[in-house]
Amino acid sequence: MSEHAKLTIGENEYELPLTTGTENETAIDIGKLRGQSKIITIDPGFKNTGSCKSAITFLDGEKGILRYRGYPIEQLAEKADFMEVAYLLIYGELPNKEQLTTFHDSITHHTLVHEDMKQFFEAYPRKAHPMGILASMVCSLSTFYPESQDPNRGSSAVDLTIHRLLAKLPTLAAWSYKHSKSHPYVYPQNDLGYCENFLNMMFKMPTEEYEIDPVIVNALDKLLILHADHEQNCSASTVRIVGSSQANLYASISAGVSALWGPLHGGANQAVIEMLEAIKEDGGDYQKWIAKAKDKNDPFRLMGFGHRVYKNFDPRARIIKKAADDVLDKLGINDPVLDLAKNLEEIALKDEYFVARGLYPNVDFYSGIIYRALGIPTEMFTVMFALGRLPGWIAQWKEMVENGEPIGRPRQIYTGANARDYVSIDNR
Ligand code: CMC
Repeated sequence: MSEHAKLTIGENEYELPLTTGTENETAIDIGKLRGQSKIITIDPGFKNTGSCKSAITFLDGEKGILRYRGYPIEQLAEKADFMEVAYLLIYGELPNKEQLTTFHDSITHHTLVHEDMKQFFEAYPRKAHPMGILASMVCSLSTFYPESQDPNRGSSAVDLTIHRLLAKLPTLAAWSYKHSKSHPYVYPQNDLGYCENFLNMMFKMPTEEYEIDPVIVNALDKLLILHADHEQNCSASTVRIVGSSQANLYASISAGVSALWGPLHGGANQAVIEMLEAIKEDGGDYQKWIAKAKDKNDPFRLMGFGHRVYKNFDPRARIIKKAADDVLDKLGINDPVLDLAKNLEEIALKDEYFVARGLYPNVDFYSGIIYRALGIPTEMFTVMFALGRLPGWIAQWKEMVENGEPIGRPRQIYTGANARDYVSIDNR
């Protein structure tokens, strides 16, 4: 293939270089077009625009491929644990035993949050959504570690911030839940693994023993792995763009948490369960809900269906659907919502509207059913997504910094009023 693309606009022809990735994806580099003409490109929602070059995650939406640093998601979900995957995403290679032990050890020893942060929790209304609390708390961490605000700090200081974030997010997440229940906070326990510690902080009560079920630990670990990164999605791009102004890592991740919250992104997992419950309450008339989703005058969408990139299937959804069956089976739970989800999927997958648009169940369609089986309340589902996505956000931020990427600053086509003179208020 030629190494240039030719763009003809009126009389003028511009030669634009092509850039190709390791999986042969090709892009037209329009960076120099500005210098040669005043013309910009426009693509709302960045539907066909690359914002960076990245070596972290590869996905092919047509073939349903997802790989972290080259490793297929199916292998990682089956064989790795979340700490290994976090290390892989952030540092680029799978850790050896010593590297993993050191990494895990460091994270284990930063799980406590400053006692003063408890007062912040107390100030929130009990009904506060835990994602709102989480986003603020993550940003608040920066105030306890002012040195993290120096954009020129060395790599060991950055590593410390990375480890603190990985260590403290489960504590903040579990405490936001405890706060909503008006239950006492449970402190992190350093002899427990990452998922065990989180479950203990969520569910242990001072009045009774809490036994951590290995089935639940394994299921949670798998879910976190499946959510750990997904290249330049809404929240990852947010983290990169906030970080590109040299805002500190805590502030950048907090912005990522906020971006994730929306129902079109990570908030879909909560929205799916609420939708399935509503369908059940309504008597289970699937066709009525499918018709609503197809009706352009009705804002309702089939939550957990469709994806910007996957137009054939979402490989994470395949793994999660099977995991949902396994977990419910192992825990002896019969959740009617799982059957409802399967029936809805079957009907939607045969429907011309969904087929023609390449709309398939995404990662969030079945994840809520597993979270529910693990005892996690619906409002916490998106927090669980954030826990999983944290290493991905960190990796994206780190790569952006290491690549020395310029500040993110898109252009626009202005459609407002032309120049006009100010009119005093008496004459309007
Ligand atoms: N239900 C009904 N119609 C849909 C749906 C849906 N869930 N998703 C897309 N469509 C239709 C849409 O109306 C449009 O139709 P038309 O071409 O006739 O105008 C067409 O499909 C293309 O949709 P789009 O909105 O242009 O696609 P997008 O790439 O901008 O949006 C999406 C992707 C995920 C936001 C969207 O599919 C959606 O809203 N899904 C439901 C929310 C959801 O499950 N989000 C979780 C995504 S996976 C987790 C994550 O990583 O964030």
